Amino acid sequence: MAEIEVLRDAAVLIDGNRIGWVGSRADAPKADRVVEITGVILPGFIDCHTHAVFGAPRLDDHERRALGVDYKAIAAAGGGILQSVRDVRSRSEGELETLTRARLATLLAHGATTIEVKSGYGLELEAELKQLRVIKRLADALPATLIPTFLGAHEVPPEYRTNRAAYVQLVCEEMIPAVAREGLALCCDVFCEPGVFTVPETRAILTAGRRYGLAAKLHADELEGAGGAELAVELGALSADHLAGVSDAGARALAASPTIAVLLPATMIFLGKRAQAPARRLIDAGAAVALATDYNPGTSPTASLPLVMALGVSQLGMRHAEVVTAVTINAAAALGLATDRGQIAAGCVADLVVAGVEDWREVAYWMGADIVSAVWTAGSACPPLRGLLS
Ligand code: NIG
Ligand code: FE
Repeated sequence: MAEIEVLRDAAVLIDGNRIGWVGSRADAPKADRVVEITGVILPGFIDCHTHAVFGAPRLDDHERRALGVDYKAIAAAGGGILQSVRDVRSRSEGELETLTRARLATLLAHGATTIEVKSGYGLELEAELKQLRVIKRLADALPATLIPTFLGAHEVPPEYRTNRAAYVQLVCEEMIPAVAREGLALCCDVFCEPGVFTVPETRAILTAGRRYGLAAKLHADELEGAGGAELAVELGALSADHLAGVSDAGARALAASPTIAVLLPATMIFLGKRAQAPARRLIDAGAAVALATDYNPGTSPTASLPLVMALGVSQLGMRHAEVVTAVTINAAAALGLATDRGQIAAGCVADLVVAGVEDWREVAYWMGADIVSAVWTAGSACPPLRGLLS
C-alpha cells in the first residue's frame, strides 16, 4: 500500500473515456488538444461506503450525544437509524432525489468520481425501492459513477420488533428478489452488530443476495466485535467495513483473504469515540485497507474524502502513500472495480482529480480544506464544482 509511483512533469493522454497513455511529458504522444494543469493529478477518488440518500440531518441525536448519551442509547430511545427511516418513508421520490443530488455533487466536488450509495432508510419494500430508484436516476444525471447497494437489513423496523425472523425472511424472499428484478443494486450489505443483525441472520441475507447476483458487503464489528469480519471472509465478501471492534482472529482472517477492510475514521470521530479500527495491525498483517466517508446523517455527515485521508494519517497511523492507495485502487477493489479504476494507467477509466498543491502529500494534510480544484470523469472535465460545495 505504501508503494505509489509519483511522476514529475508528467502527461496523461485521454483517449475517449479511457486513459491511453501516461508518462513523462517529454515523451508524450501527439494529442488533438492539450490542457495544461498546475498542481497534482491523482486517480479519481472512490468513496466505497456512503448512505447518501436521506432526508433531514439528525441534529437532535448530535446534541444528545454531546450531552453524553451514546449512539446505541439514542437509537433505543427512538432516535438513530429509525429516525431517518420515518423521515425517508414520508418523503416523495422527487424530494429525496433533489436532496441526494446536491449531496452527491458535493462528494464529487471533493474528488469522489465513483461513489457507492446504500439504501437502508426504508426498511420496507416500497421505501427501499424508492431510495434505489433515486440512485439509479442520479447515476444517469450526474457525471460520477454510482454503485448501488441494497441495505434492507440496516435495522429491524418497528413493525417487526417482536418478530425479527419474519423481517429476515421478508428481506430474503421478497425484497432481494424485487430489487434484483428491477436491476436496482449490485451489492447487498447488512449491519452485522450485537443488537442489530446477528451473524446467522447476516449469513442468511447475504447468501440470499448472492443467489440473485448481489455481491456481499458487511457493516462488521463497528462498535463491538462479534465475528463480522470472520463472516465476511467466510462468505468471500467484497469488503468488511468499520472494524473498530474487530477481533484478532478477524483481523488475521482478513489479512489472509482478498476481502477489503474498509475503515471509516470520520465515523468514530463524529461519534466522539476514542477507539479506531486497528489500521496498522491490519496493514502490517497484509490486509488490503480502504478508507471511505460513511457519509450519513447519524454518524458521519462529512462529504470529504481528503478529510478522511487526513484522519487516516493522524488517527489511524497510516502513511500518506497508504491513504492514497486506500481511496483509489483499494477502494475500487472494495466495489469489484479494481481492473479498470483507481489508477492512472493505460486502459483505466479516465477519472482524475486535480489538487491545487505542490506536494502530493498535502492532499492528506490541509485538514478540512477544499483541496480539489478540478475533476475529470470518463475523460471529460466536470463543470466548475466550487459552487456545489456547501
Ligand atoms: O455506518 N452502522 C450503521 N450505519 C451507519 C449509521 C447510519 C445512521 O446512524 O443513520 C454507519 O455508521
Ligand atoms: Fe455505514
